[in-house]
Amino acid sequence: MNDKRPVVIYGASGSTGRLVAEYLREYSIPFVAAGRNKAKLQDVMDKVPGIETADYEIAEVDGSVESLTALFEGRQVVCNVVGPFLRYAPAVVEAAHRAGCHYLDTAGEQKHMLWLLDEWGPKFAESGRVVSSAMSIQYALHDILARICLETPGIDTLELGSYANAIPTVGSTQSIFDVIRAEAHYLEDGTLKRYDGVTLQDLVVPGTGYVVKGLNWGGTAMPVFFRDDRRVRNCKMFVAMQNQEIWKRVLDVERLFKVALQWIPDDQLYPVLDRMAAGLTPSDPPRENRQIQRSVDWCSGRGNNVTNRVVIHSSTGYQMTGLMQAYAAMRLLGNTYDGTGFRSPAQLLGHRELLGVLESYGFAHVTEETGP
Ligand SMILES: NC(=O)c1ccc[n+]([C@@H]2O[C@H](COP(=O)([O-])OP(=O)(O)OC[C@H]3O[C@@H](n4cnc5c(N)ncnc54)[C@H](OP(=O)(O)O)[C@@H]3O)[C@@H](O)[C@H]2O)c1
Repeated sequence: MNDKRPVVIYGASGSTGRLVAEYLREYSIPFVAAGRNKAKLQDVMDKVPGIETADYEIAEVDGSVESLTALFEGRQVVCNVVGPFLRYAPAVVEAAHRAGCHYLDTAGEQKHMLWLLDEWGPKFAESGRVVSSAMSIQYALHDILARICLETPGIDTLELGSYANAIPTVGSTQSIFDVIRAEAHYLEDGTLKRYDGVTLQDLVVPGTGYVVKGLNWGGTAMPVFFRDDRRVRNCKMFVAMQNQEIWKRVLDVERLFKVALQWIPDDQLYPVLDRMAAGLTPSDPPRENRQIQRSVDWCSGRGNNVTNRVVIHSSTGYQMTGLMQAYAAMRLLGNTYDGTGFRSPAQLLGHRELLGVLESYGFAHVTEETGP
């Protein structure tokens, strides 16, 4: 043990990073607020509610593996909230592994998770550490839903949906556009299959009767989380935003990518994608409002002679993300977690326990229905 602050928030100046700081303070966990701009980090930290009672320091780093490793040495948990993750995560993951830290992130990008599972899972397992992705509203909530469905014996097919009134942050919008060009997969008969591009699906939102348009959303994390789980043969998820303009924008960007952009090298393509993302989210959205930013998320489970459905009503997904990151860090610091290597959020922390934390803060309520 040493006296260094044990948790690093990398990307603490962002909309999500500041929320992780807010909840680390609630768990009385000392932390480092790290990022690329010291002045901005300080400015953002100064506005975190209750920050005067937090035990923290600011660290500016240049994002290279070397400087990140130096920062992470002697720490225990890295909360990586710098996205898009397909662009920026590789150096952070490598540095966390070199420094012997547990690694958590808020990624939603399926390709990134497959890479963590296959490339880094075994390495972190070897050093007795955890690498866990999507410790965030997307997709920890759906991981909980799926694992509640799987409590019923015989369920082997998971069909998930999400209907959210969320305002994506700048980083989230960039990440949504980044995955449009990545391969997206679903799980069929125990094997990952590729979608033929962005896929549109009508969704019936439980309890409302609304029929809305959802997208395969880059495949989501769920087929990755259950790829190697022999209980699950089939797994798919679709996401609908209450702002029904978003799916149209995503289809526009896919079309543009196919006809004009796919030949452009990454360093020139990213600024173009970011300009398009800025068209949807030009600047930081305001702090979420619990009366407005509400979501309905669900999982339908099926088997030969059994069905069930689990629904979670929740609010303020970014705040839930901050809470889940801090709670996971607390569990990792206290050595009360399950397994090493690649772990989904609910595998790592227990789906009922993770749900309990969200419920205890009044963020989420679950409804379970079991069929014949
Ligand atoms: N799956 C989910 O449910 C979920 C939930 C929340 C967030 N996320 C993801 O988490 C990521 C961050 O989200 P956010 O809401 O915090 O976005 P944000 O408000 O735009 O913040 C982005 C953060 O990343 C930093 N950053 C961006 N480019 C960087 C670079 N090249 N080098 C170092 N730092 C860089 C920014 O630093 P500056 O402040 O210096 O610009 C800022 O700290 C996004 O990818 C988002 O999709 C996912």
